[in-house]
Amino acid sequence: MLTQVGAVRAGALLPAIALFAVLSTVSTAADAQRVQRLGKEVVDAVCGGCHVPGKDGAPRIGDTAAWAPRASQGLTALTSNAITGIRKMPAHGGSPGVSDIEIQRAIVYMVNQSGGNWVEPLSASPAAARTSEAIVQAQCAKCHQPGKDGAPKIGDRAAWTPRMGKGLDRLVASAVHGHGGMPSRGAMPDLSREDIRGAILYMFNYGLPPVPTPPPVAAADPHHKVVDGMDVYLGMMRADALRAAQARDVPRGKGYYHLNISLADNKTQTPVGDAQVTVRVSDGMSTQTKALNPVAANNAVSWGNYFRFASGNVYNIRTEIKRPGATDAVVANFEYREP
Ligand code: HEC
Ligand code: HEC
Repeated sequence: MLTQVGAVRAGALLPAIALFAVLSTVSTAADAQRVQRLGKEVVDAVCGGCHVPGKDGAPRIGDTAAWAPRASQGLTALTSNAITGIRKMPAHGGSPGVSDIEIQRAIVYMVNQSGGNWVEPLSASPAAARTSEAIVQAQCAKCHQPGKDGAPKIGDRAAWTPRMGKGLDRLVASAVHGHGGMPSRGAMPDLSREDIRGAILYMFNYGLPPVPTPPPVAAADPHHKVVDGMDVYLGMMRADALRAAQARDVPRGKGYYHLNISLADNKTQTPVGDAQVTVRVSDGMSTQTKALNPVAANNAVSWGNYFRFASGNVYNIRTEIKRPGATDAVVANFEYREP
């Protein structure tokens, strides 16, 4: 049942008309941080330009062999490559207004269209209760409403656009450090980088027609857990797809998957790379326990290994994460049934 969750969710929710609205706006004015565009929309608007035709060697959407080895690097590695850019892949897909979480969702969407079985991550932090709107009203508006000391005004796109042109990441960094009349973190030291990013997008988008809000995602995301301040993402890729991509040492037989765990700090969303990960997969009748092998990609690490999910039963995937210096391992449990 889990197979197409990402794709179905992305495909079914928004009518085609909404996609046009999304194309012309960067994100909703109502709440840039909470209402994240779904993966498919980001792909249609930004990534598809290269990833549909396979421009400059971009892995084509639907090309299982091209995506499988990349997908086996895990979500955090792929995300960080897409954020910083890799070879001919421009940073943020060349669109600085696309947030990190939107990039993750776009990647999950493309992977799922290409033989993968991942679930789109939800909004980054559970602390997003503090909405971008609330942050701006409470703090940034003090200067950015009147345009005090040359602060770019809320919703004044002529003032914001050239600054946005530096790239959203650099703007976030600039607001975190502060300069001139702009105090560090807008003089609200407990704001996270994600908070600041949301506040900037809110000020940039203010006044644009709102994009229809996707209905809330009912169930908890089955491939994403937050434990001990860490995001734990489970990725599953059929072994057949990796064999087709000529990966080495792929086990033969029915029901084999390459299971991938990637980790990120929940607050800062920086990839976690210093863990040892052990996974126990059990359907109550047979149990497989393996240490996962680190899979290095440019600036992130994830962990993977092959497991068999052949019985048709629901498997419990118990993931044990040990970080240096920590006395106790962190445990995340997932469930999976061969679709
Ligand atoms: C201007 C063309 C272009 C656009 C637009 C673009 N990409 Fe890419 N992308 C590429 C190319 C080229 C590669 C292959 C880079 C390589 O591995 O040499 C690539 C590779 C990737 C990879 C694999 C990275 C890896 O580590 O192997 C991911 C993930 C990715 N793109 C995500 C995205 C997302 C998400 C978007 C939209 C937000 C996007 N791309 C938009 C050209 C593009
Ligand atoms: C005390 C007044 C003040 C407050 C409060 C304030 N800002 Fe600013 N901000 C400024 C001024 C002045 C500038 C223009 C600085 C310049 O470029 O010379 C600015 C510029 C910026 C820029 C552009 C930076 C760049 O490199 O171009 C960003 C982004 C920004 N503010 C974000 C925020 C956010 C987000 C908040 C709320 C969390 C906030 N600011 C709160 C005064 C303020």
